[in-house]
Amino acid sequence: MKNSKNYDKGQDYDPTKDETFDSVFEDFARLRSKCPVAHSNEFDGFWALSKYEDVKSVLDQPIAFTTMYKNVVPVMSLTSRRPPLHLDPPEHTPYRRALDRVLSKTRVNSMQPFIRESAARLMSELVAKGEGDLVSEYSRRLPVEVFGEWFSLNVDQINVLQATSQAYVDAWEAADLKGVQAAGMNLTRMAEDLVAQRQKEPLDIEKDPVSSLLETRYEGKPFPSEKIVACVRQILVVGLVAPPIVIGSIAVHLSRDTTLQQKLRTEPDLIPAAVEEFLRLYTPYRGFARTSRETVTIGGKEITPDEPIALLYASANRDEDVFENPDEFQLHRPNIAQHLAFGRGPHNCAGRLLAISELSIAVEELLKRTQGFEVCGTIKMSGMPEVGPISVPMIFVSA
Ligand code: HEM
Repeated sequence: MKNSKNYDKGQDYDPTKDETFDSVFEDFARLRSKCPVAHSNEFDGFWALSKYEDVKSVLDQPIAFTTMYKNVVPVMSLTSRRPPLHLDPPEHTPYRRALDRVLSKTRVNSMQPFIRESAARLMSELVAKGEGDLVSEYSRRLPVEVFGEWFSLNVDQINVLQATSQAYVDAWEAADLKGVQAAGMNLTRMAEDLVAQRQKEPLDIEKDPVSSLLETRYEGKPFPSEKIVACVRQILVVGLVAPPIVIGSIAVHLSRDTTLQQKLRTEPDLIPAAVEEFLRLYTPYRGFARTSRETVTIGGKEITPDEPIALLYASANRDEDVFENPDEFQLHRPNIAQHLAFGRGPHNCAGRLLAISELSIAVEELLKRTQGFEVCGTIKMSGMPEVGPISVPMIFVSA
């Protein structure tokens, strides 16, 4: 991707330079202290907000800072706007209602036995080998299997989703626009097939996302089919990208902190609280973006309506002005509920409950089936818009 001269306002931040598991947070700390409203010339130019209050303020003005134009940095997709993320309220709201219904506490609880069975099987296979990649062999596979259950996919569809989601990540990491588009087309075809199937034979609207979308009405009318396809296609990306990265980060953290590892192994009831703190520490997103409808000044920098503003959630969650000793893991941190790992406002993560269940069960099964584990190779890091490991080679000592 070429830099555009239009946007050459200086280079405070370069997300394309090599990052390690730890260096990325040092860079965020530098941004917060030296240039909290940073400009980057990469990816055709964008602004990056690294302080908690700046990020929160943008999220609290969802109409002034829209998701309808440049909603992610870098932009890789050439296809149309997908609900719900790429729509502003009120158009956004009915799509969100349809998704909230099938991501409720009741629905997520009903999936927990499946998630556990799936995590237990995948982890047992990995531990039996003694060595493997925690992300590609465990944390990336689990969310796909969970989606298989949630969307009632057959085995062939699950296999296609497994291969396509891996191809999507690989192409994205290689900045291979054609590869991203090819994988994206496969996801669109899968979404089209699912919508056509459910149009013929709808499932329970309290359980099945596609049937729920098909049944929902906006101003008395059903959503256009192509919008439902686009929405399903969006979920197939956003719901599969973040969980593998966070589970990878947690595994790296626990491999370094064996005292915490052992505590969580012997007291698994602490895992959900630990997961919230891990989500703060290892927030997987830094590239969700907004565009301002008018020229605004943030932190003394003038930002025009055609410039994307990346919200560095991963940095905001380590802001020392909000979280005491932000780089430390603190179980039961008093203000943990303030973390922004799932965003805030109308676009806050629709899959939050499902994600927390996946992460908690994934960590519990990792700990239950091992006595210990350590990183045994190079941790490969994700590029923007995510942040965190996409490959974690590990050795496992079986329980
Ligand atoms: C660790 C796991 C996850 C994290 C950290 C995460 C984080 C986020 C964040 C930060 C946003 C807001 C984006 C923005 O501000 O522009 C978001 C939106 C969204 N997420 Fe998640 N997510 C996760 C898992 C999931 C899962 C499993 C699903 C699906 C079941 C999901 C579905 C969505 C959807 C549909 C939206 C768009 C919501 C809207 O626009 O109303 N996410 N997520």
